[in-house]
Amino acid sequence: MKKITLAFLLACSLPVFADPIVGYVDTAGYEAKTPEATLKAIQDFFHQKFPEVKGDAFIDGSMNWSEGERQYDKFMTGRMHDDFDAPVGYPEVIAEGKKLWETPLPDGKKMADCFAHGGKGAANDYPKVDEKSGKVITFERALNDCRVAHGAKPLDYGDMKKGMGPLSDIARKLSDGMRIKMEIKTPAELAAFERGKAVFYGRTGKFEQACANCHIQHAGEVARSEELSPIIGQAAHFPVFRQDKKTDGLHLVTLQNRYKGCQKSTAADKPIKEGSDESNDLEYFHTYISNGLPLSSGIFRK
Ligand code: HEC
Repeated sequence: MKKITLAFLLACSLPVFADPIVGYVDTAGYEAKTPEATLKAIQDFFHQKFPEVKGDAFIDGSMNWSEGERQYDKFMTGRMHDDFDAPVGYPEVIAEGKKLWETPLPDGKKMADCFAHGGKGAANDYPKVDEKSGKVITFERALNDCRVAHGAKPLDYGDMKKGMGPLSDIARKLSDGMRIKMEIKTPAELAAFERGKAVFYGRTGKFEQACANCHIQHAGEVARSEELSPIIGQAAHFPVFRQDKKTDGLHLVTLQNRYKGCQKSTAADKPIKEGSDESNDLEYFHTYISNGLPLSSGIFRK
């Protein structure tokens, strides 16, 4: 009896959100001992491999290797800003996000009241680590905490239509142009960085691929029909609007929603879930690697 209970408890304590890690990819940054050394090793790797891609250009991701993609991006961005030609899905998400940001919460407070400067620059204070629990607090978590503190229900982190997606897009826009400036100093912060790093370099899914396989080792090369973007710059421009094959319009994708999508492409049985500890740790590591780059929210990405 005792044995069964123990096995049951053990099974319950295993991570339920994602496939287990089955080994690590030893590519640039993996062996580095500190956050600073990890960042430098990754930057050196890309500067050596692609000397033509410099500074803020990393935010353009795979467009640096595909002129067709850059042209398409320009075309779609133009449509998004044209009231008469806006693709289906785009105006709806913007309206929903504005409603969630502006409508007073049940106790009369507004979302903007929860943050300094009415939320301007607030997204750039995250992700951070709660020293007491050691957990990573994302900006989206702070948005939900604000709702709950003022009497509203938390939003679903994975809902890109009526949930956290639209609110995150509008709230993050208030930090557009600000440069990521994460510092990692305390033992709790270092531990969070290490956990996130292990996710990024860890192999998961049937294909046993790690984020680092595609977004460091093979970045700038073509996987199926797509150029792979480098990790540097990825975390600086989310959420994004992507093409929706079903509606021929656009749908929103948050950073953590993208993590899930990418893990699915490695044939993961249980892809990493938005708002989970593991996804938050990954965001902490991932954002640090875009240090110094300017934020932008709600842009188009193929
Ligand atoms: C099998 C290869 C593969 C793996 C493994 C993979 N991705 Fe991707 N990822 C892609 C492709 C292809 C795209 C679309 C092209 C691009 O922008 O890189 C993409 C896009 C992205 C983007 C959007 C880039 C942008 O500029 O809009 C992010 C962020 C991302 N991946 C993060 C991750 C993370 C984090 C992991 C690990 C959980 C991961 N990926 C694992 C192939 C992969």
